[in-house]
Amino acid sequence: MKRPAWLANAVFYQVYPQSFYDSNGDGIGDLPGLIAKLDYIRWLGCTAIWLNPCFVSPFLDAGYDIADYYRVAPRYGTNADLLRLFKEARTRGLRVFLDLVPGHTSIEHPHFQASCRHARNQYSDWYIWTNDIWTDTRDLRSVNGYAERRGNYITNFFWCQPALNYGFAKPDPRAPWQQPVTAPGPLAVRAELQHIMRYWLERGAAGFRVDMAHSLIKNDPGFRKTNKLWRDIRAMLDREYPDAALVSEWSSPIDAIGAGFHMDFAAQFNAPIFNPLFRAPGDAWGSHGYFNARGDGDALAPLEEYLRHYRATQPRGYISFQSANHDMARMSGGRTLPEIEVAMAFILTMPGVPFIYYGDEIGLRMPDDIASKEGGYERTRCRTPMQWDATRNAGFSTAPASKLYLPLDSSDTRPCVAAQMRNPRSLLQRVRTLIALRAATPVLQADAAFKPLYLRKNAYPLVYMRQAGATCAIVALNPSHRPVDVTFRAPAPAGGMRMLLKRGAQITCSGTRCTVRMRGVSYAIAASSA
Ligand code: NOJ
Ligand code: CA
Repeated sequence: MKRPAWLANAVFYQVYPQSFYDSNGDGIGDLPGLIAKLDYIRWLGCTAIWLNPCFVSPFLDAGYDIADYYRVAPRYGTNADLLRLFKEARTRGLRVFLDLVPGHTSIEHPHFQASCRHARNQYSDWYIWTNDIWTDTRDLRSVNGYAERRGNYITNFFWCQPALNYGFAKPDPRAPWQQPVTAPGPLAVRAELQHIMRYWLERGAAGFRVDMAHSLIKNDPGFRKTNKLWRDIRAMLDREYPDAALVSEWSSPIDAIGAGFHMDFAAQFNAPIFNPLFRAPGDAWGSHGYFNARGDGDALAPLEEYLRHYRATQPRGYISFQSANHDMARMSGGRTLPEIEVAMAFILTMPGVPFIYYGDEIGLRMPDDIASKEGGYERTRCRTPMQWDATRNAGFSTAPASKLYLPLDSSDTRPCVAAQMRNPRSLLQRVRTLIALRAATPVLQADAAFKPLYLRKNAYPLVYMRQAGATCAIVALNPSHRPVDVTFRAPAPAGGMRMLLKRGAQITCSGTRCTVRMRGVSYAIAASSA
């Protein structure tokens, strides 16, 4: 398998298009708006963008319910705008990933509408239908009473997201409506998936973030047939688009990378790696993981889980840490700006390919109580508009405040890009410095090996090493408010160690004996001088 070389030093920036920048004053962010802000994303130092779905949709799940995979939603612009985005991004050294939603469409998709018909047609088997509307579909959720056709359709997420029919790995003989993966419907759906991918890759997309990647084939213990499906797609990419890449929403790097994905997110679903570190064990909306000044978290269990996945996937693929995404609490939840900075220092010095969620670089906050928008529910809190400056609507839009996609942070002290750009000590500038350090220091990038140096149960700090050949770096992080000093052993590099970046902390090594002295909420990064 080939791996695009650009991933080795990639840093992604996730853009939620409706909330990023509104270029035409209708209150909703759009593609020309994103193009206008590419210089900012490049200034921050990111090398790639993941753009949430931007296709025609009734927006019952904020665009994860697609009605036309080949056409940009008019509220975001036109296909020509998307092609211009690819081009303008590339001239700035930025690659653009689209969001691929392979598992379900919108109920408004013409294929689904055709599939709803009583008379058999080309699309009858493109979705999963039972034989009558009274079937108990057990652990698969379904909707009955919607269509003229006699049957329930299986859903993947909301009622309005009918599952495409990729077949069942082990169809239940008592349920003849469950088709094998080799049936004509599932084969046609697969071919269409590849067609959509080729269509956008051909026009300049650099790859895809793949929604619910593990869930296409139903009843597939061990993901055996799901793996085959994705491995075929990976083979297609390696053959035809060797520079393109895929990141999965799977949350199990061993499985996802085994299935041929280039990268998998550490977060999402039950997230045993991500949540205990950054949110709360088992809760993407909690705010008291290890990276919190209360200092009552544990890094050992999640990092042991990380190491299990890391060791099993090296060097085939990458584990991606995110600062947050559009489905979970922002990094600012329950954290001060210095605490966010320590968390960012971790994300930006770990192996794999890091992702920054728009706004986390300035500590964008979440409203406590907000009406659900477009199927967001609790998630609506982390989808509010980017705050650019101190002008009206924080520079997001010239629309009247009542027309904005979502309300802005209403406090006088709301963070914004312009003010943080002016302040050399701001979170924004520190995140930029961390990204620049990663860009300039290969041993901090995706491929260099990772080894914990000080990692104890329920203890602070966390210290680890990155190593590539004779070069190494040491990263020490103390998210807790309590100062702490620890001594540990580390390999002694020939020319000794030099500090690269620090905030309230110091690393000193003599021979193989290293000491870190750390204030509360501090970090330090050192590397071998040779
Ligand atoms: C995961 C996406 O991130 C989320 O926003 C969406 O609602 C579901 N998949 C369904 O597509
Ligand atoms: Ca707009």
